[in-house]
Amino acid sequence: MDIWFHPARELDAVVRAAALRTPGFDAEFVPEIRLADPRHGDFQSNGVLGYAKARQQNPRAMGMALAETLKKDPALDPALIQVEVAGPGFINFKFTPAFLLAWCRRYRNESAFHEAAGGLYRGHTLVVDYPSPNVAKQMHVGHLRPMVIGEAIARLLQFCGAKVIHDNHLGDWGSNFGTLILALKESGETLAPDPEAALAQLERLYKAGSAKAIDKNSPWAESARAELVKLQNGDAENTRIWRQIVAVSNQAAEFMYRLLGVTLEHTLGESFYRDKVERIYAELTKYQLAETSEGALVVFHPEHPRFKEQPFLIRKSDGASNYASTDLATVLYRVEEWHADEIIYFTDGRQRDHFEQLFLTVEKWFRAAGRPVPRLRHVWWGTILGEDGRAIKTKSGESLKLHELLNEAQARALAILAEKNPDLPEVEKANIARVVGLGAVKYADLRQDRTSDYEFSWNKLLALDGNTAPYLLYAAARIHSIFRKAGLPVDDPAREVLADVFQTPAEINLARKLFALPSVLEATLADLRPHFLCTYLYELAGEFSTFYNADRVVVDEKPVQARRLLLCARTLRVLETGLRLLGLETLERM
Ligand code: ARG
Repeated sequence: MDIWFHPARELDAVVRAAALRTPGFDAEFVPEIRLADPRHGDFQSNGVLGYAKARQQNPRAMGMALAETLKKDPALDPALIQVEVAGPGFINFKFTPAFLLAWCRRYRNESAFHEAAGGLYRGHTLVVDYPSPNVAKQMHVGHLRPMVIGEAIARLLQFCGAKVIHDNHLGDWGSNFGTLILALKESGETLAPDPEAALAQLERLYKAGSAKAIDKNSPWAESARAELVKLQNGDAENTRIWRQIVAVSNQAAEFMYRLLGVTLEHTLGESFYRDKVERIYAELTKYQLAETSEGALVVFHPEHPRFKEQPFLIRKSDGASNYASTDLATVLYRVEEWHADEIIYFTDGRQRDHFEQLFLTVEKWFRAAGRPVPRLRHVWWGTILGEDGRAIKTKSGESLKLHELLNEAQARALAILAEKNPDLPEVEKANIARVVGLGAVKYADLRQDRTSDYEFSWNKLLALDGNTAPYLLYAAARIHSIFRKAGLPVDDPAREVLADVFQTPAEINLARKLFALPSVLEATLADLRPHFLCTYLYELAGEFSTFYNADRVVVDEKPVQARRLLLCARTLRVLETGLRLLGLETLERM
């Protein structure tokens, strides 16, 4: 039989087909393949219970009949997969050590994992909308999450076979530009050459400007609105200033993207859609989804408890487009130009209403227009808290600048390293500190369920034990050193052929954990929650330690050594693949 990568899917197909050859079953039978309690097996099929009961049959008897068919099925070699009926009619599948050995031999490295995992999303075109920051602002800690979570999920989707299109939906068009332009003009200042300094300058000018515009009827507020209208009408001077502001923002952001390894492809900001909104107003009006209310164009959702009264404002009463209208135009563009089957948005939880309203509107609008409705998902998250349990701030109460945080991460990692491993060459030390420091910050952002807030603690995220990046990076580096010390290459197919079947409990547990990789990838993507993968890698590293402490790897008997080295090599490749998918770099020495 074939050595499966996605056992749950394969079993589903095999059990469905077997049911059709078993008396009493028909095409309505759903196997319901689940992970099993490890004491009983690897997977179980739960479907017989409900199916038999609904037909007033005895589930146990039906389970036995189905198991008989499965035991004769050439797709299930009993030397590799054992079938058993348990309790009132569950069917358990146990993958034998021989299967686990064949699995480890077959799925040998990242490209083999990728090839096998690619079936999950093959043929699926997907737009990932991140990090999508607003311009004219310095990045602060809050900007970390869209970069880190967006990148991890984008990598995972691509790994699992999707055609992933990256689009950085910049917030580069809004009423704040009136204030910014007027404040900058009045100040007579030119923008500082250093992008971070220019952004600090813009923030200062904007603050002062907004203070003067607080009274919406003041002459200053009126002039700011006039500057905005000039910009919207394509005035040359205001367009030049706007471009300059967008350019310095992008320069500062690009530094972060490079530092954090954010993949960029398209950067179509909100401004790109400013001439594409008329069509949206026209279509939504034509399909009677939008209505005029106090001069504005709005969409209500009568079936929704809140959105039947809370409007989705798509054109302001002064005729200007907004976040919602550009987002509607963006969906249409992505579907028409890029043929997106799915769009995934990444923002914090405060934008949940916006996206819920957007998704409801798109669904009705596309149906009315007879277009295929893309799948739309919003990946949202909670806040990063300081150790006092409140939103993280600097001592003076401002939000912490992202570049300061990332510098501190690298400096702290360097200090720890200088103490633990003072003899490393300086260049290598700096590189390790970069990988560990940035990795630690990213991993802390990924390891927790994203929808809850998390507490940012330097000591916890840099700790060498626990579910942290330093722990996992160290686990991988340690496996490299096992091979280095033994003078053996990590990947050696000729050596792997010599391996005999896994025997000790530690070997079998570790192999089972490796074999869980595909199920973990599937679960992570089903809910777009990277912490599933983090937990898995952490448990895998723990399982490896148990194995390494229990069973000597470098021994005289060649077949024993070969199978243990195989486990070391696979653990290493799975750890490295997983960390890379999460957006971390890895190290051979630490
Ligand atoms: N620029 C927005 C913000 O910083 C996020 C944009 C998310 N993407 C979108 N298509 N709305 O809050």
